[in-house]
Amino acid sequence: MEKTVSDAIAYRRSTRVYKDEPIDTEKVKQCLVNASLAPTSSNLQLWEFYHITDKAVLSKLAEACFSQSAAKTAQQLVVIVARKDLWRKRAKANIEFLNKVYNKPNLSERDLKRKKMATDYYKKLIPTIYTDVLGILGYIKYAVFQIIGLFKPIYRQTRLSDMRIVAHKSAGLAAQNFMTSMAAIGYDTCPMEGSDTLKVKQILKLPKGAEINMVISCGIRDDKGIYSPRFRIPFEEVYFEV
Ligand SMILES: Cc1cc2nc3c(=O)[nH]c(=O)nc-3n(C[C@H](O)[C@H](O)[C@H](O)COP(=O)(O)O)c2cc1C
Repeated sequence: MEKTVSDAIAYRRSTRVYKDEPIDTEKVKQCLVNASLAPTSSNLQLWEFYHITDKAVLSKLAEACFSQSAAKTAQQLVVIVARKDLWRKRAKANIEFLNKVYNKPNLSERDLKRKKMATDYYKKLIPTIYTDVLGILGYIKYAVFQIIGLFKPIYRQTRLSDMRIVAHKSAGLAAQNFMTSMAAIGYDTCPMEGSDTLKVKQILKLPKGAEINMVISCGIRDDKGIYSPRFRIPFEEVYFEV
């Protein structure tokens, strides 16, 4: 039986040594389906999930993860990839979805309004935010929006670096959904940013615009794979009720 959300969150630990025991590829894949249900900025889903089960590729990737034992002893690896470069394709998919949802006769005034608002969002606002030329346009938009921001609240994350953060933020949420889902079924994980991301991209034959969000090793924890009791800053120091 699956653990409750709270139990799964409590169970999840970054595991650095896994047992030499296979895990079920289909179950891991299902946890990746859960990953894809994470919330995502503008529902653009600027992510991809690479699930590595092939021994030869696993070994190459472990080396690219600096041969950390979390990677070397893993049964499988998952690479969460941020694909900011796919924004046009994803915006188009959203528009197609909207056309399907609202493809019925006699739409009410309210539905017509909603459809127009949502369609304009993907046809006008998203291109305004995401279109950039070598990062220059982003800075121009940023400057203009700072000036407008003197008079009213405005969206300010328009620079190339901001847009990269937006994509990685959503990818990170998907990664957490994945790790919690794995914990719920008694599987273990370790998120890793300690990797040569260029090598990881080369091994997975990813295009230039793809960015490695994190590599997640997967398996079943060995007792010696949890390096220490969990440490967290006292909650009172990080919690502020306003
Ligand atoms: C984005 C990110 C990158 C991380 N990279 C590594 C890594 O490269 N190697 C590693 O052993 N642990 C890595 N960790 C795991 C953290 O060290 C771990 O989450 C932290 O010590 C808290 O322990 P816990 O996950 O068991 O609660 C990473 C965690 C995150 C969120």
